[in-house]
Amino acid sequence: MADLSVTIAGVPFKNPVIAASGCFGFGLEYEDFFPLEALGGVSLKGTTLEARAGNRPPRIAETPAGMLNSVGLQNPGIDAFLREELPKIAGRDVVRIANIAGRSPAEYRELAERLRGAAVDLIEVNISCPNVREGGAAFGATCEGAVSVVREVKKAAGQPVVVKLTPAAADIAEIARAVESEGADAVSLINTLLGMRIDLESRRPVLRNNFGGLSGPALLPVALRMVWQVSHAVKIPVIGMGGVSSGRDAVEMFLAGASAVQVGAALFRDPFAPVKIIGEMNAWCDTHGVEYVRDLRGAASLWEDDPDWRLL
Ligand code: SIN
Repeated sequence: MADLSVTIAGVPFKNPVIAASGCFGFGLEYEDFFPLEALGGVSLKGTTLEARAGNRPPRIAETPAGMLNSVGLQNPGIDAFLREELPKIAGRDVVRIANIAGRSPAEYRELAERLRGAAVDLIEVNISCPNVREGGAAFGATCEGAVSVVREVKKAAGQPVVVKLTPAAADIAEIARAVESEGADAVSLINTLLGMRIDLESRRPVLRNNFGGLSGPALLPVALRMVWQVSHAVKIPVIGMGGVSSGRDAVEMFLAGASAVQVGAALFRDPFAPVKIIGEMNAWCDTHGVEYVRDLRGAASLWEDDPDWRLL
């Protein structure tokens, strides 16, 4: 058995597989399938100051290799999160990651303040949701926006801060560098990529919100390329996500430079997906003589005759 343990921003994970925010509720949705403790970590549903009902349905659409969602950060708000949701998983042996989203840098700061002393190990700052009118990916698309949020969060946060990045940024590596210099302890990427589907009969978008975020296997190559670029631009750890559906996908993420992976859309096809991924990573490491999964991080090299990959 390989050693799958990793450490992100000083927080030890027993294995590098984390359930992605928005796909695992507040930690107990998959208890009928496997115990929460099987996972390295869980990123809880994006939480805002006030409760949100989310966008109007339909807000899920299938795509050939994934899905679109336009959920719109439906959540019960930080009070209910702290009072009702978090206590249910407080004693569990899993890294708990609170995912926060605000409409302004001040709101993000207030959310981080409210989490001080709470039973969460990391704060994931969601500056990448494409489904909200205010905030979300609008912050993550520019260095100024990203820095304005991270600066406020770092003033208040009692836990290490992971910044969740958007593929909508023109240069995601530049955003990662900017948040690193503002004190971010890690970055996670990529959130969904904005897309649409059109119903042929009604000639209207399938999603009531018109557009929604694409996730699932279609995203994997884009995510790998961005994880590669970001991990070569910053020194802080990178958590890779976007279409990870198998142990081989997770190993690819590590080779691209990730220190852990998040699994999201795969859960909707197969609720056992994260547990299978952990087993497959272990098997892959065994057959390839890899003792420590962390040794795989950034172990891929580009073709030497094509050094100017930045021009891609
Ligand atoms: C949503 O609730 O709209 C999805 C969350 C996200 O994309 O960050």
